[in-house]
Amino acid sequence: MDLLNNKTAVITGGNSGIGYATAADFLAKGAKVLITGRKPEAVQQAAAALGGVDSFIADQGKTGDAQKLAAYVRDRYGKIDILFVNAGVAAIEPFTSVTEESFDTVMDINLKGAFFTVQHLLPLINEGGTIILLSSVNAYSGMPGASVYSASKAGLNSLGRTLSRELADRKIRVNVVNPGPVATPILEKAGVPKEAIDAERLAKVLPVGRIGQPEEIARLVSFLASDDASFITGAEYNIDGGINVHPLIG
Ligand SMILES: NC(=O)c1ccc[n+]([C@@H]2O[C@H](COP(=O)([O-])OP(=O)(O)OC[C@H]3O[C@@H](n4cnc5c(N)ncnc54)[C@H](OP(=O)(O)O)[C@@H]3O)[C@@H](O)[C@H]2O)c1
Repeated sequence: MDLLNNKTAVITGGNSGIGYATAADFLAKGAKVLITGRKPEAVQQAAAALGGVDSFIADQGKTGDAQKLAAYVRDRYGKIDILFVNAGVAAIEPFTSVTEESFDTVMDINLKGAFFTVQHLLPLINEGGTIILLSSVNAYSGMPGASVYSASKAGLNSLGRTLSRELADRKIRVNVVNPGPVATPILEKAGVPKEAIDAERLAKVLPVGRIGQPEEIARLVSFLASDDASFITGAEYNIDGGINVHPLIG
């Protein structure tokens, strides 16, 4: 219950999926929580359902919004302890079909937006605070159709490593979480029809025999955000039901 007592957290993309589950977990563990999102109605609904969280409308694809978010956080909280950069979009598109526009859409949110969200909020993070970047096992896989998405996530893993060194003087820990397939609406939002998402086939490839639940990712994020993880920085965690382990035979 007390794992995150007296900590203030900002979660980007907190109205759905992993961000929403993490907001609930942070709250249950005693943190003060601010969620962001780009759709006012969805964000307000999520905040109401969570109960007791603050919310702010900010599109992670617009660096101006990161500045506005930072101004809001400064005025309202002064300082924060936890920044969970979770907002992201998926894109499934063959390499040859990728346009400059579709490339920019994904990169602007997943990588550029994440980068400048951290940069604008950084002055507000307390010494001893922590940043967690939500990447994906795609950062290391060669999944067909995921060239832009995977590259955007690989950029985040790189950023996490660099920041863990650059922010060490301020005792800010920076870690990256790489989930495997998790039951959230992200693929449907990316236009992948529900019937094309073969969860059963996917589950068979996973040693645990099922895809993940957002709450399972949330618990790892809460641990990394807590002082129990005080010796952990510059690290990445696969949380993927074992999908990253490919048997050569069998
Ligand atoms: N689900 C998986 O299998 C999986 C696996 C590995 C990594 N991930 C990563 O996990 C993170 C969370 O995704 P999820 O699976 O929980 O999907 P989700 O339910 O769609 O949640 C994504 C969240 O990010 C928000 N978001 C997207 N673009 C945004 C923008 N421009 N500005 C502000 N908020 C924005 C979404 O808001 P809207 O509702 O407005 O879209 C939503 O709140 C993403 O970074 C994703 O890449 C997911």
